[in-house]
Amino acid sequence: MKLTRRTFLAGASAGLALPYLSKGASAAIGGQPLPIPPLVEASGSPIELEAIGGQTGFLDGATTASWGYSQSYLGPVLRLKRGEQAHIGVANRLSSPVTSHWHGMHVPAILDGGPQLEIAPGARWDIELPVDQPAATLWYHSHVHGITAEHVYGGLAGMIIVDDPEAPNAGLPQTYGVDDIPLVIQDRAFNADGSFAYVKRGPALMHGFRADTVVVNGAVRPQASVPKGLVRLRLLNGSNARIYHLRFADNRAFHQIASDAGFLPAPVRMDGITVAPAERVELLVDFSDGKAVTLLSGPDFNDPMAGMMGGMMGGMLPGPPAQAEEGRDGEFVVMRFSPDREKTAASQTIPTRLEGAPTAEFGESVRTREFVLNMHAGGMGGGMMGGGMGVMSINDASYDPDRIDIRLQRGETELWRIRADEMAHPFHVHGTAFKVLRLNGEDVPFETTGLKDVFLFQGEADLLVRLDHEATDAVPFMLHCHILEHEDAGMMAQFTVE
Ligand code: C2O
Ligand code: CU
Ligand code: CU
Repeated sequence: MKLTRRTFLAGASAGLALPYLSKGASAAIGGQPLPIPPLVEASGSPIELEAIGGQTGFLDGATTASWGYSQSYLGPVLRLKRGEQAHIGVANRLSSPVTSHWHGMHVPAILDGGPQLEIAPGARWDIELPVDQPAATLWYHSHVHGITAEHVYGGLAGMIIVDDPEAPNAGLPQTYGVDDIPLVIQDRAFNADGSFAYVKRGPALMHGFRADTVVVNGAVRPQASVPKGLVRLRLLNGSNARIYHLRFADNRAFHQIASDAGFLPAPVRMDGITVAPAERVELLVDFSDGKAVTLLSGPDFNDPMAGMMGGMMGGMLPGPPAQAEEGRDGEFVVMRFSPDREKTAASQTIPTRLEGAPTAEFGESVRTREFVLNMHAGGMGGGMMGGGMGVMSINDASYDPDRIDIRLQRGETELWRIRADEMAHPFHVHGTAFKVLRLNGEDVPFETTGLKDVFLFQGEADLLVRLDHEATDAVPFMLHCHILEHEDAGMMAQFTVE
């Protein structure tokens, strides 16, 4: 089937009239093995990605029209090596324009794949991407203004692994798909005919769209077979709006070793972690006891309907995911891990130090800027352009592709004070990683001080930001809320770096 932007969107809204599928009808927990996306290495050979439409089997007895890069849903994991150039070609076989934004890559804006770099239907984009940043887990996704939410929901996203030959993962699990496992966590809702259900108006626009079925790497609440010993999970929250509060059902502790921009200086022991949309975390989990365990998530505190039960809220929205039997109030199953007694992991002990963490050389800030994330329309610009609705804004200005909001000087450190009152927003900046100084006047925990490119906050936070790559008037960088419905509605600004 040929899937176009029009048919996808029409399908999504027409779907509202179809009987809404209850959660019970979707695949059983652990019913599907965890899919491991193909790994595509940039070293030596060019990477070819194709934005295509296809059919994906999420549910028993039905298929779902979906989008992906070179596969029916999501894309391959791209492995890039620091110090090299990656040759990447992206061909668009859909009838909607797409982009391929390298979220977290530190490259000039002309290579960033933002909204000004649309690839027209039938066209292709060929680039040489210089890779020069610490080892990290990043991702890529379509970023066409006004329809980024639909594109990512439909499947136009994938993970990127940056390796640093100077910091070769010493002591860490590093066999892809075996003890080094990519996990793209998303929530999706389905109509009775198997098609994706999605709405972007009313409360789904105001608070972001959340769905009742968790999918990991494109499979509903799957089961991963893991070796006995230490396993590294590279987690990406690829959801449009849902915040996950993750923990293991048996309360086992784990260690966080990396956040958005790369390794932390040392592993941090914890028994639960919050992951906001677009954030990445790398965890080390010990499965040496050989016992199967469920990964659970608590309800999203940003969801005004988190406490409510049932199916279609007000006839419009999916309810929360089903309560997990072994969970506390409101907790739901993300996936299961089952250790294979025959297989012993290569790593058994948590290292005390980690090598290759990004260094935070910021220097004194030369100026302070304030960004207020507004859940109302901007006074200037915005409106009904670009397919966006222009009902949200930053500093009272809804995103306007024809307006440059700020101009930065390359290499200058600035203090950015970000503010939001009504709810928590994951704040994202293209082309760099920032240091979080304070949240509501208090120091942030150690694991948050590692450099990041997405920061979830409510109230007021201070960030140190420095851009080292160029962005022009024609192709500027973006800063925005990564709740994709907010971003599409205008909670985005753009800046040059001269
Ligand atoms: Cu995930 Cu503008 O980015
Ligand atoms: Cu980005
Ligand atoms: Cu937001």
